[in-house]
Amino acid sequence: MRPPADDAERLELIMKELDSLSALKGTHMILVEGSKDIAALTSSGVSGDFFCVQSGGGPVRAAEAVWKAGKSAVILTDWDRRGNQLADDLRTNLMALGVVYNTRIRDTLAFLCGPYAKDVESMDSVILHLEKSLLEIRGVRMGAIIVIEGIDGSGKSTLCARLRDILSAEGRDVVLTAEPTRGKVGGLMRSGAFEGVSQSTEALLFTADRNDHTEAMRGWASEGKAVICDRYFASTVAYQSSGLDGGSVDRDWLLSLSSRFVGVPDLTLLLDADPAVTMSRVRSRGEDMSKFEEVRFLRRVREEYLRLAKEFGFKIIDASAGPDEVLEAAVSEIRKVLRCIRRRRSTVRRA
Ligand code: TYD
Repeated sequence: MRPPADDAERLELIMKELDSLSALKGTHMILVEGSKDIAALTSSGVSGDFFCVQSGGGPVRAAEAVWKAGKSAVILTDWDRRGNQLADDLRTNLMALGVVYNTRIRDTLAFLCGPYAKDVESMDSVILHLEKSLLEIRGVRMGAIIVIEGIDGSGKSTLCARLRDILSAEGRDVVLTAEPTRGKVGGLMRSGAFEGVSQSTEALLFTADRNDHTEAMRGWASEGKAVICDRYFASTVAYQSSGLDGGSVDRDWLLSLSSRFVGVPDLTLLLDADPAVTMSRVRSRGEDMSKFEEVRFLRRVREEYLRLAKEFGFKIIDASAGPDEVLEAAVSEIRKVLRCIRRRRSTVRRA
């Protein structure tokens, strides 16, 4: 294979190889060396039926798994190139079953990533690097607005902070933000300046705050930043329609107020849990309870959130699970969106 002429072609070829692996989904099992290979492939957009030869039990177990699944195999370990006995065993076992043997894809990927990484394991960072630099050259930035919603105590703040750490560690620019904001309108609301106003006035204030905030978030995203926003329009619809102090506001009116914000987030994650669980968390933190934090009221908020999730395609995450599981589920959804954005932007680039 000849070396690519430039990084644009390099990226194109890497994506093509990854797409060809994804196309095997359902018919083939992909045998990899270790779990890091699986992580590299999945975070680079490949989904499929993986078998990890190293931790899965070696060549015999791999052959058994392929046979049981009634599939063909694509072998992505590079043991054969190193002349390792295990690779020969793997080949022999699979050949005996009459399954396909193919290391070409891994070799090609290793060749394409070569100038930027020692191993295919770091393919994701190679792709990120290539995309970032290419998009910057063309003045196109790849950002995303990711919203986290949920009732009080559902773990939004913890999740947001951990997401920021993970995405920053991957070399992305991250902005962590929240509503109500600490800007002009949100700051006044937080200071208690509007204490005692009706729920409909409060809905208008939250919306006014959101109006300015949305412009700021769009700006950050267009600079290529990953924006993580704690609460957005669904908070207004869910909270202000749920009859706090008997002051519930008409849902349709709240939805019409929110309509201009509906398409703004690239992804909304709803952390869903029973208010009895979330309130016991709030109490155990010894925090002051706000007027919004009452179990019966929060039950209605939760129902409304779930209804909005259906209507607007929010991804629901079970927030009664431990923080690590919640984080894992959130990261997996976010990666899909960042990947789509990359692809979407690269389509724009090619056009
Ligand atoms: P919260 O996320 O708890 O902020 P913080 O943890 O920084 O104090 O938000 C404060 C409260 O505001 C929360 O109970 C929900 C309520 N709220 C609404 O009722 N409507 C809205 O539109 C927003 C953004 C928040």
